[in-house]
Parts: sequence; structure tokens; C-alpha cells
Amino acid sequence: MAPERTPYIAANWKMNKTIEEAKAFLGAFLPKAPNDRPEVVVCPPFLALKAAVELCAQSRVRVAAQNMHEESAGAFTGEVSAPMLREIGVDGVILGHSERRQHFNENDEALARKVPAALAAGLEPILCVGETEGQRDAGETHSVLSHQVQIDLAEVGSAELDRVVIAYEPVWAIGTGRTATPEQAQDAVLFIRNLVRAREEGVAELIRIVYGGSVNPDNAAELMAQPDIDGALVGGASLEAEDFAAIVAAAA
Ligand code: PGA
Repeated sequence: MAPERTPYIAANWKMNKTIEEAKAFLGAFLPKAPNDRPEVVVCPPFLALKAAVELCAQSRVRVAAQNMHEESAGAFTGEVSAPMLREIGVDGVILGHSERRQHFNENDEALARKVPAALAAGLEPILCVGETEGQRDAGETHSVLSHQVQIDLAEVGSAELDRVVIAYEPVWAIGTGRTATPEQAQDAVLFIRNLVRAREEGVAELIRIVYGGSVNPDNAAELMAQPDIDGALVGGASLEAEDFAAIVAAAA
């Protein structure tokens, strides 16, 4: 983690926690939340966002959604737009999570529209990229990352590129307990940083690139000690306030 970049830790709760459960988590977590570094973001399901925004208001913890539609309004039954999220005080949005790519046909063409739409509405995008196990075994990790990063960020202007947070999440490490080794994670994150460098030299040292995939209180410090890894996107281990607080403490 380079000193010029503020470390970034996000909790991806996925389809977990009712409003009451989200409130209980924040009641336990917020007293342990840091006053300065790292930046901490919680990503509850849509229905718990407003309660989370209200509870986090007196802290430095910010709230992000887990998805959004690229249009600001229209005939898209069941969808939620960026301005709707901004209206209730949401600050960011996870985009392109592998579960959305796998189960909900999220593709890079849609992401090429979603990322700039999020930025235009004032939301910080947390863009997820990563290879499957088959792609890694076939030696395709770099080409997959290169394709995703190039297309998903194609419509983002140079001046806004450093407002994107990129999460490197190898699909084989998500929810499996099989964490990437610190060397594998560093290699992929550095590769992504160099893709950003090739596009916009000055942004490469500013943009935050985090690792996600079975991060827990025991492995977080070693992963985040890698020079290019600026934090973590945490799934399973972010559901318990104590575990998430321990991961946040490891990034301080
Ligand atoms: P996990 O999930 O920490 O449970 O592996 C990470 C993620 O999907 O963002």
C-alpha cells in the first residue's frame, strides 16, 4: 500500500441483512470505526441503504449500493438508478461483481455505460474485475483483466478516472475460502495498475486498486502489505462487526 493512496475497505453484504440486522451491525461496528485511515464503505442490499446512510451520518463510514441501472429513469422494471441512490445519500456503487456477471448477465458493454453514469451522478464506482479458475489455468488472467478494464472504463474521462476504485476479485477466490496468495494478488493488481498507467500515466499512482476474495482477519494484513494492494472488498467476513473491524484495523 503506497502512502500517497488512502487505503479503502468495503463490506459487500450481498443479499444478506434485513434493515434490522443492518442496524444491529452498525450499532456494533460504528464505535470501532476509524476516525481517519482507512476509508470504510458498507454495501447493504437496496432496502437497508437508507437506514445505513442515516446511522453512518455521524461517522466517516460511507454507504454504497451493490448495483444500479445505467439509465437515470425509464421503463426498466425492477431496476434502481444512480440519481435514486444519490437522493437517499448513497455515496458509491459496486459495479460488475462476478456474481452479477455470472447470474444476471452483466456484461462489459453494460458496464461501459454504468461506470460513467455512476460518476456523472456523483457516485463512486467500485468496479470489479477478475478471472475464473479455468481462465487462470489457461494462462488467460492478464488478457481477461485487460479486456475488462479497457472496456468497462472506456467511456470514463481522464479527469474522472482516479475517482474509480477497482477491485481485483479472482472468481475462484470468492466465497470459497481459497484466497489468492499475496504474490498472485500483487501480480494481478500491479498488472491492472499498469493498464491504467498505459492509458493515463498520472492516474496510475492515485487510483485505488483493492483485492477481494476470501479476505478474513487472518490474511488481510499480509495481502494489504503488498505494494500495489490498497485495501479489500470483503464479502463473508464483513457480515460480523468484530471480523470486519479487525480487517479495517489491519489496513490502518
Ligand atoms: P468473499 O466475497 O469475501 O466472501 O470471498 C468477496 C466479494 O464477493 O466481494
